[in-house]
Amino acid sequence: MTQHRIAVIPGDGIGREVVPAGLEALEATASRFGLGLEFDTFDFASAEYWQRHGTMLPSDWEETLRGYDAIYFGAVGWPEVVPDHVSLWGSLLQFRRTFDQYVNLRPCRLLPGVRGPLAGREPGDIDFIVVRENTEGEYSSIGGRIFEGTERETVLQETVMTRVGVDRVLRFAYEQAARRPKNHLTSATKSNGISITMPYWDERVAAMQGQFPGVRVDKFHIDALVANFVLHPDWFDVVVASNLFGDILSDLGPACTGTLGLAPSANINPERDHPSLFEPVHGSAPDIAGRGIANPVGQIWCGSMMLDHLGHPEAAAHLLGAIEDVLAYGPTEAPLTPDLQGKGTTAELGQAIADRVRTRDQANA
Ligand code: NAD
Ligand code: IPM
Ligand code: MN
Repeated sequence: MTQHRIAVIPGDGIGREVVPAGLEALEATASRFGLGLEFDTFDFASAEYWQRHGTMLPSDWEETLRGYDAIYFGAVGWPEVVPDHVSLWGSLLQFRRTFDQYVNLRPCRLLPGVRGPLAGREPGDIDFIVVRENTEGEYSSIGGRIFEGTERETVLQETVMTRVGVDRVLRFAYEQAARRPKNHLTSATKSNGISITMPYWDERVAAMQGQFPGVRVDKFHIDALVANFVLHPDWFDVVVASNLFGDILSDLGPACTGTLGLAPSANINPERDHPSLFEPVHGSAPDIAGRGIANPVGQIWCGSMMLDHLGHPEAAAHLLGAIEDVLAYGPTEAPLTPDLQGKGTTAELGQAIADRVRTRDQANA
């Protein structure tokens, strides 16, 4: 039996509610496909850990997590207790950088049975992936404050683009585009206004184009791109973006497909020198936390991405198929959560998907 060790970090808020649903679906899939998944759950990267220890992570976190094949993560952030930039730079952003998870892969698909906000759009009309640069760009710790408390008070935060950093994420995106049926890559830029880093990004996109002659490439300034996500989501196949632009696009995309609660993300170290991390796109959602109504689908879909990454594409497809089947039953037949116009709870929807994993025909996977 293939054995994988998975570190589970539920984090804060709805992270703690959707992770158990994700684990139930993963366990059902593992038993169906004869996979040995061993889960160890950690309480760090949470506001409660911060309250107890005054830090987000134990000093040996890197050594601890390095021993796992993957990290299954919920969400972190509880601004009432710890400022967001402190909790995020003290945990998730550390994981991404230390483990060189330089690709953040965020699929975006309008699924059968789900009502999106865009009129006239059918499943198949929206089916793209956002490839987000995940370790540099606008998320840099270079900068600071000077002349604090005076009229000359100045704050500065630099954007960093390295050739290695830009090229490696572009290559990943080109490879994805080369593999998908539409062979289409869209680059998010803002080289009309951000006059140093963004023209560099465009140059590197153009420099790589010759290596992928089968891929059609276009670029949009980010302002026009967000408009086109809403007006023409069918135009997109693979969208590659810098860290901040990718962050924004990967919330907007899922919103166009119905709800943020559906969206998964894979923080990948493609070289597999370090564990990759699988988490939903959404955060800890303090506005609905504790009510048991969070949509667990994004978290469960992450489990499918994790199985794929661990070398089990059939199990991954089976789990995704179970999600699709249950969503397709619609809110009257399945216990869909309120963001999907249903009356179900997190646990009920998680259970329905795990049950479907057990019963659905494997050949349909
Ligand atoms: P959020 O994603 O938590 O919530 C945005 C909105 O979407 C809220 O109205 C929320 O109720 C809704 N929503 C999110 N997930 C949902 C789900 N599964 N089902 C139903 N509705 C869902 O974003 P926010 O409010 O900006 O951030 C809240 C906290 O989470 C902050 O501390 C933020 O820093 C943190 N955050 C963490 C991550 C992460 O861990 N990867 C990602 C985003 C935000
Ligand atoms: C995400 C989140 C994080 C990001 C925050 C919480 C730092 O929004 O994973 O999309 O901006 O990367
Ligand atoms: Mn985000």
